[in-house]
This record gives sequence, structure tokens and C-alpha cells, in this order.
Amino acid sequence: MDSWEWNKIVGAILGTCLFVLIVKLASESLFEVPPPAKPGYVVEGVQEASTSTGAAAAPVEEALPDFGTVLPTASVSDGQQVAVRCQQCHNLQKDGPNEIGPNLWGIVGRARATHPGFDYSTAMMSSHEPWTYELLFRYLKSPATMVPGTKMSFAGLRSATDRINLLAYLRTLGDSPAPIPPPSPAKAAAPATATAAAPSTAKSTAAPTPSNGAPAPAAAGTKPTPAAPNTSTGGATANPATTPAKPH
Ligand code: HEC
Repeated sequence: MDSWEWNKIVGAILGTCLFVLIVKLASESLFEVPPPAKPGYVVEGVQEASTSTGAAAAPVEEALPDFGTVLPTASVSDGQQVAVRCQQCHNLQKDGPNEIGPNLWGIVGRARATHPGFDYSTAMMSSHEPWTYELLFRYLKSPATMVPGTKMSFAGLRSATDRINLLAYLRTLGDSPAPIPPPSPAKAAAPATATAAAPSTAKSTAAPTPSNGAPAPAAAGTKPTPAAPNTSTGGATANPATTPAKPH
């Protein structure tokens, strides 16, 4: 092979390289794609700090259960087990002493921070609202969150089931068990439990019963929507008068 042959081979290789380079430059200018403002896929579990600032940062308020529905089926004995933890600091017996915390006999419905002889914190004294199921449910999840500055140094019960069972037990600790509110008509799933529970709690004093003519605002708001009676399974049997559907 003489040098002429080599020149042809090297020339061919160089020519190919040049050709590839030109095609590449040309195609890049033809098909130039602007970089996307956002990555095209979302990585699960990673929060974008820039777009969701205020809304995502706020802690989500736990939905309150409908106590008229959950309390009748809650486990009082499981609740008694949970209450063992409270008894590190609280006596639960009638006329029992105050300990690190105040005596808790009759706590459901008792006005807040009013047990005689106990030196409450000013934080706890800031309200004397009666302890409803709702307030106890929220308080026992995280005492320091609902009553900042409370001297009840107890982290709280994360499990909603534990708190519901505990409340079912605490309500029995009174001269007469604290009344259970009637199931909320908006949330009541089974019509059978609604009719069974309603008469027994009719004389309840603490619970706001929507039975005296004026419907609760929530119930009044949901009634006129024609979808409601059709979607709930109980709607067909519960009250035919409210269903506007007529056969054709
Ligand atoms: C480490 C001790 C401790 C434990 C455990 C504890 N508490 Fe308390 N609790 C206190 C103290 C102290 C107070 C008074 C708080 C204040 O004055 O700020 C209190 C206050 C309360 C109050 C308000 C009482 C009132 O008269 O208004 C309730 C209700 C209560 N506790 C329920 C419970 C329940 C239910 C449990 C169990 C899940 C529990 N506590 C566990 C120490 C404790």
C-alpha cells in the first residue's frame, strides 16, 4: 500500500466525521427543544417547595367521628385498657383524690378546669367550657396542641380508635353514664341504628337534638339535593316523601 492509498483512507474517515458533525449541528438547530419549565414526571413523596407553600404546610385537621354512630359500638373494655395510662396521673374513682392530674370521675360533660382542690395551669383555666366528646377527642390526641401550656405532660393518643374506646369507657365513669348524642342524619350509614338509638337518647340534655322541628343547618343543606336520597342505600326505605323521583 503506498502513501496514496493511506491518504484516501484517512480522507474517507475525516470526511465521514465532518459529515456526521454537520448533520448533528443541522438537526440540533432544526429540532431545538426548549427545556421544560417543570420536570415531566413527578417523584412520589417529594414536595415541591416553590409551588405549594402555605396550603401544604398547614397541619391537616383530623376529621371528627360521628360520636352518635361510633360510641354505641366502641369497646368499653379496650377503653379501660387505654385508661391505664391515664391512671399514672389521674384517679378515676368517685370522690377519689387529685393526683398529678385532677380526678376524672364524671369528666365527660364536666366544665373544664373546675375540679375542686386541683391547681390547674392558667392555660387550662383559660376556658371552662364543658368537656364534650369532641373536645376530649381533640385534646387527648395532643394535649399541648389544643391547650398550649397545659401541665398535662402526656404526648397524646395517636390512634382515633383508642380515643373512641377510651371515651366509651370514660362516659361510664359518672353517677349516670354521659348521654350519647343521636347519630347525625348526615353521616348515619345504617337506618337501623338510627331508629334504635334515637329513643334512648331522646331525654339527653347535653346533646343538641335536631328532632324538635327545626332541622340542623347541615341536614337542611343536604336535603334538597336530589342525588342524596338516590345514592344512600337507606334512602329508599327511610323516607320516601323526600325522594322526588316518580316512575314514568
Ligand atoms: C403525666 C401525667 C398525666 C397523664 C399520663 C395524663 N394526664 Fe391528664 N392531666 C394531667 C395534668 C397535670 C392535668 C392538669 C392540666 C393543667 O392544669 O394544665 C391534666 C388534665 C386533664 C384533663 C382536664 C381535666 C379538667 O378538670 O378539666 C383531662 C380531661 C385529662 N387530663 C384526661 C386525661 C386522660 C384521658 C389521660 C389518659 C389518656 C390523661 N389525662 C393522662 C396529667 C396527666
